[in-house]
Amino acid sequence: MSSYVHGGTDDREVARLEKQADFTASFTFATLELEPGLRVLDLATGVGAMATRLLRAFPGIHLAGVDLSQAQLTAARRNHPELPVVRGDGTRLPFADATFDRVHCSWLLEHVPSPAVVLKDVRRVLCPGGFCQFIEVDNATFGTTPACPAVTEVMRRLNEAQLRGGGDPFVGQRLEGHLATAGFERVEVERHPLIGNSNEPRFFRAFVDEFVEIFEGLDESLGLEALPLIERAISELRGLTELRYTPVIARGWR
Ligand SMILES: C[S@@+](CC[C@H](N)C(=O)[O-])C[C@H]1O[C@@H](n2cnc3c(N)ncnc32)[C@H](O)[C@@H]1O
Repeated sequence: MSSYVHGGTDDREVARLEKQADFTASFTFATLELEPGLRVLDLATGVGAMATRLLRAFPGIHLAGVDLSQAQLTAARRNHPELPVVRGDGTRLPFADATFDRVHCSWLLEHVPSPAVVLKDVRRVLCPGGFCQFIEVDNATFGTTPACPAVTEVMRRLNEAQLRGGGDPFVGQRLEGHLATAGFERVEVERHPLIGNSNEPRFFRAFVDEFVEIFEGLDESLGLEALPLIERAISELRGLTELRYTPVIARGWR
């Protein structure tokens, strides 16, 4: 559901992230319990796509975005000049203890070698009674009807590339443990099965498009020789009768 391995800022990737943000926001914002005046951090804000939607959905919140990548932040500042964004590493956030009432984070932990270290620093910047919400991948939940050999092979290579790079394409399965290791006393984990089929044609089309666009951007991480395989996989995706994926949403209270 995210850019998985690479984090580009070309126009195509920025457009994909903006579209993905609408999709993500549609099933994650309801549980944030945001109201005017609350101080909110969007950790790994990237090009600012989710942060912008947070501001739109919850007017009156005090929002800050932080990201490790200068290139992502440059795109965020260009496309969303209203967003206050700063450069920083999730393992050493550039904020004092107890600065925020909420920390929102989407699609980060699959990329980091030590999620619990990030979560520990997130706990530090939360004020007592505040909570963080992470939405993360679990690529083991990906499924199609009918079975698609090229799609399965692309997903296998994608997972391998991410594991080789020190990430974790199944991090959703471990979120509860990571939050407990980081010291969060109360943790809630919610699995959110997404099922696209002819019952909801509009959602199904958007869901398939989401994966098509992810696959279209994979030539960099899987290598140019994977292009014919990626093209076959995209054509299989276009012919699906059902697509399934279950992201994991976890909240940890300070
Ligand atoms: C897949 S993008 C998700 C961006 C955004 N949250 C969204 O949903 O559109 C992952 C982001 O994590 C950022 N990132 C990776 N490691 C990080 C770290 N240690 N600290 C802060 N940001 C990090 C990357 O620069 C990238 O912008």
